[in-house]
Amino acid sequence: DEFETIKVERTGRVAVLTLNRPAALNALNEELMRETVTALTRLDRDPAIGAIVITGSDRAFAAGADIKEMASKSYMDVYLSDWFSAWDQVARIRTPLITAVAGYALGGGCELAMHGDILLAADTAKFGQPEIKLGVIPGIGGSQRLTRAIGKAKAMDLCLTGRTMDADEAERAGLVSRIVPAAELLEVAVEVAATVAEMSLPIAMMAKEAVNRSFETSLQEGILFERRIFHSTFATTDQKEGMAAFVEKRKPGFVNG
Ligand code: HXC
Repeated sequence: DEFETIKVERTGRVAVLTLNRPAALNALNEELMRETVTALTRLDRDPAIGAIVITGSDRAFAAGADIKEMASKSYMDVYLSDWFSAWDQVARIRTPLITAVAGYALGGGCELAMHGDILLAADTAKFGQPEIKLGVIPGIGGSQRLTRAIGKAKAMDLCLTGRTMDADEAERAGLVSRIVPAAELLEVAVEVAATVAEMSLPIAMMAKEAVNRSFETSLQEGILFERRIFHSTFATTDQKEGMAAFVEKRKPGFVNG
């Protein structure tokens, strides 16, 4: 394909985006950011894709933002270009995202992993926000998403000491959906993605939107938001099909409508 720093493959209704800068442990440079956002936006608009996997290599999901690229930037460089704001577009992807992490997910790598709606970790995964060791702080939402995912006690520990957390600790803390043996990570990720992709795409988008709303609002407002969306599912063909299939003891054939 046209990309230099990522690979995009499709199997059925699943797309797999592989971060591919092995010499830099998939460090997130500007080109990789641009290519990732371009690919994800394109896949998100494609109704033939029902779920997207983002993964890296055995050694690293991503070892963070590219330090060599960042090192000499000035305050005006990062302020005027609103450095890293392009990653916000990943949070706006409506198609379910599965991030599959083996090896290092540090700094921006951990932050990208946390954009996954489902985060799968190989038993080799190591998570951390080591920015403080470089004299900076997380810049792609780490201080916010990590705190919401694992609470203040552990988020502060990670952000202030820069230490890494292994897959077991990350799962206990609530960062990780499932731990998978490293050799099976991609296979399981595609399987999980295929399961999600078999559901009705608009309903999966609604479920994702409803869960994500809980991070933005009070409980009462969130429940109201959920109920209105729940009601709206009854306007879909897929609700009729899903419930009819249950009653008739057959597999539903969703039409994504
Ligand atoms: C640029 C990187 C990189 C990075 C690794 N490399 N991480 N290049 N940016 N973030 C490069 C190394 O320079 C080296 O290339 C090659 O990848 C292999 O890395 P090694 O260090 O030789 O591997 P190893 O000894 O196994 O150590 C792995 C590691 C270490 C523990 C992951 O590379 C590391 O600490 N990386 C930095 C992690 C980090 O601080 N991430 C946060 C970045 S800041 P060469 O060519 O030199 O051999 C961030 C958010 C910024 O993400 C937001 C605020 C501004």
